Amino acid sequence: MNNTRDTLLVAQAQALCDTPHSLSAICNILALIYWSADSINWAGLYFTDPDGSLYLGPFVGKPACMEIAAGTGVVGTCASRKEPLLVPDVHAFPGHIACDSESRSEAVFPLMQDETVIAVLDIDCLETDGITPDQFRSFQTIAGLIADLLAKEGNLRSGISSAD
Ligand code: SME
Repeated sequence: MNNTRDTLLVAQAQALCDTPHSLSAICNILALIYWSADSINWAGLYFTDPDGSLYLGPFVGKPACMEIAAGTGVVGTCASRKEPLLVPDVHAFPGHIACDSESRSEAVFPLMQDETVIAVLDIDCLETDGITPDQFRSFQTIAGLIADLLAKEGNLRSGISSAD
């Protein structure tokens, strides 16, 4: 990673992790991502339910879909494949869920605990092909930080989900 903005973003996110308040750090990291570039219009988490569906967690941006069925959309595909995805043109992605019709590209990262996807980090962008390789790499590093924060905050998911 050689872009100053993206290097700084990761350093700032790492600094935020030095806290006992994991949820606070996660919210601020999502705000950091959102404000890291004018083109980013949404940054947030979707948590997985045992049936594979996903529900909205902390985010920065416009109100978004609260539930995503297992294996659907960019987020559900990321969770079922257990791998990050960079979607340069959301309109070319079969089954893309348009929470915000202005979004043009998207990056998603599975947050793992052992072999299980516990959440997906979802980042939307206003420009087609708007997420650079440097940004993608920095977001991937940050996804790992958020996964560690979630692991430290063992009750976070059950505290948020009414289904638990
Ligand atoms: N576009 C996502 C839905 C979530 S919003 O982008 C916040 C998808 O296709 O799964």
